Amino acid sequence: MELKTSPEVGGMGHSIKRKEDPRFIRGKGTYVDDVQLPGMLYLDIVRNPHAHAKIVKIDTVKALAIKGVLAVITGKDLEKYNLHWMPTLMSDTQMVLPVEKVMYQAQEVAAVLATSRYAAADGAAAVEVQYDPLPVVVDPRKALEPGAPVLRTDKKDKKDNHIWHWEWGDKGATDRAFGEAAATVKEDIYLPRIHVASIETCGCVAHFDRVNDKLTVWMTTQAPHAIRTVFALVAGHVGLAEHKIRIISPDIGGGFGGKVPVYPGYVIAVAASVLTDKPVKWIEDRMENLQADSFARDYHITAELAARKDGTLTALRIKTLADHGYTDAAANPSKFPAGLFHVCTGSYDLKAAHVEVDGAYTNKPPGGIAYRCSFRVTEAVHTIERMVDLMAHQLNIDPADFRMKNFVKPEQFPYKSALGWEYDSGNYGGALKKAMDTIGYADLRREQAEKRKRGQLMGIGISSFTEIVGAGPSKHFDILGLKMFDSCEIRVHPTGKAIARFGTKSQGQGHETTYAQILAEELGIPAADIQVEEGDTDTAPYGLGTYASRSTPVAGAAAAVAARKVRDKARKIAAYLLEVAEDDLVWEPGKFSVKGAPNKSKTIQDIAFAAYTNHPQGMEAGLEAVSYYDPPNLTYPFGSYICVVDVDSGTGEVKVRRFVAIDDCGNIINPMIVQGQVHGGLTMGLAPALYEEISYDEIGNIRGGSFIDYLLPTAVETPKWETGHTVTPSPHHPLGAKGVGESATVGAPAAIANAVVDALWHLGVRHIDIPITPAKVWKLLREKGVTE
Ligand code: CDP
Repeated sequence: MELKTSPEVGGMGHSIKRKEDPRFIRGKGTYVDDVQLPGMLYLDIVRNPHAHAKIVKIDTVKALAIKGVLAVITGKDLEKYNLHWMPTLMSDTQMVLPVEKVMYQAQEVAAVLATSRYAAADGAAAVEVQYDPLPVVVDPRKALEPGAPVLRTDKKDKKDNHIWHWEWGDKGATDRAFGEAAATVKEDIYLPRIHVASIETCGCVAHFDRVNDKLTVWMTTQAPHAIRTVFALVAGHVGLAEHKIRIISPDIGGGFGGKVPVYPGYVIAVAASVLTDKPVKWIEDRMENLQADSFARDYHITAELAARKDGTLTALRIKTLADHGYTDAAANPSKFPAGLFHVCTGSYDLKAAHVEVDGAYTNKPPGGIAYRCSFRVTEAVHTIERMVDLMAHQLNIDPADFRMKNFVKPEQFPYKSALGWEYDSGNYGGALKKAMDTIGYADLRREQAEKRKRGQLMGIGISSFTEIVGAGPSKHFDILGLKMFDSCEIRVHPTGKAIARFGTKSQGQGHETTYAQILAEELGIPAADIQVEEGDTDTAPYGLGTYASRSTPVAGAAAAVAARKVRDKARKIAAYLLEVAEDDLVWEPGKFSVKGAPNKSKTIQDIAFAAYTNHPQGMEAGLEAVSYYDPPNLTYPFGSYICVVDVDSGTGEVKVRRFVAIDDCGNIINPMIVQGQVHGGLTMGLAPALYEEISYDEIGNIRGGSFIDYLLPTAVETPKWETGHTVTPSPHHPLGAKGVGESATVGAPAAIANAVVDALWHLGVRHIDIPITPAKVWKLLREKGVTE
């Protein structure tokens, strides 16, 4: 990409250092738990040990006797204000605090309000709850069997645990293609429950100021504006109108989708503050966060792929069972209950496809978090990339050649997929070729063949994923009815410095830097002179927030459009100052000059000063603009990842020896930040591939509810990532940019899984569900007689 600005201005393409890092690396960030207010009270939550049980009695006497404990709040207390239930983002309902029964282990049962965090915790431990256990349903297949205990007894007409059925695509054409296929493959693929496990857990400080009748909530949220609206809709009847609610999302220590939902703790803290007229702080501990906050994945998928004799793919058929826990709280656009799962034809030119998804209730916490993923794109990518690999191996065609043959070709863009998406741009073969050249693919295949002769287990796995980010065009995308646009407001001050505010909210992605770079590119004002703010609903323009890599495709585009409005006004002022017609001016980043007389020019700083001191009569003073950007389409970043693994034939341990990641996110704003996003994303892809899983025993006890058995990879397990990129601009984004934040998390697990299966294919292994633990591999090696 040609750089239009100098490093000092720092527009697009410059790896300028992150503006936010000086405060982060010095420990001077302001996270929710750093907020201290005079007279603040503390909330701790009593959690339930059963997966499903009736509440017989809650005895608060001992808790209330503890010094510092002021109150114990139960569901019955909230019921008086009709606040014991709340809506979820998918228009289901979720308990704030239970009145009759609990639905999963670690669910909130009561909350203790105290003068210190310690007293609140002691109080929570002293609350005595008597339960009457009920039958537990943990397996979604069993949940849908006739005669299964009905879990949502609160829903009067509900007679089973089925939430919804959703299907998409042409069933007839797909079935016909399967009927005519020369080769088919079929596989059951399970993507287990996992947790975002961000460094900072969730929490809030709620402060209701009765004098001004105003509620301020500092909150770990990725979507402050939407939260404000939801609060107003849920609590309007108790006097909390939207203009009297201020949500402040301060520094956030990782969100990854887990900080989109409204958790009961937030609502209880708000209620406690309104009732006591005092600020109330609630911060989860690590185990509460892992055990009770919403989970990702938990998709039971059966996929089939069809091909002609020559290896041309023809059709894809998928049936999926989605375990949503006890309520459907997924943060999906409302039109798509299975998120964007129907991007599952991936990078391949399939002529027919059909997808069915059924949602089921179980006795587990809410699922459906879009963990660093555009709703369900990780599930989609994992499925298609595993299936394509399976077919290639079955047809005995090299998986790289097989992909090259079946990719959507560059000349086919814009490409309409069999499931209706319009891919904006791509060069999948280019990215795969670059990855193969970088890693030395042919040599690795030779090495593998030699090692196999010696009984050594080496595998090479490819994932050539297509992403779908930038939700979204408002004609298709809304959350709870709120259209998914996003916003930027710019004000240029008289001295040529600027402030820009956005409807998104960074959780570590570096927006303060990259948004400033977009504005620097468009206005020529140095990025260092532009202050970027997000996350305060009293000051920032309304937007739907940051998740699903939507910031660059939507708010980044809004920044460019708003900057261009500023530039249009700047041109009028420059024409006035230089006494020429607007058409006689040429723009280069930072100044307008007169055509043919480059010495006659006005810098953006001169113009900003004039906007307040010497603007044309009849023109409004000031230099500012706002844009609410409704994208015409999503953006489709892509990449090709190649992973080399060595499998220890004695222990089953998988070692990632090399991993090359070639990403394409269109035009890049800050290459260093993009590389950082890819590094972090790859580690978050390695994690579920080899280590992370939350499972439950048959009575609903959580396994994986602490970092002792929920295995986050550390620097020790993380290989050296080798990254690179190709650039295929988006034709409809004002800057040609696509999102990148989630690409690596979406694409990496399939590359690793494919590499392990590739290492074991000759032994008859066809599929292994992630996480591919040593125990799973060792069991297979024993079955195949490789080890004892
Ligand atoms: O929505 P979120 O910020 O999580 O995702 P994103 O839009 O993919 O951006 C992640 C980070 O990468 C932001 O700081 C972006 O500005 C930056 N980025 C970039 O520098 N160039 C791109 N083409 C895409 C993202």
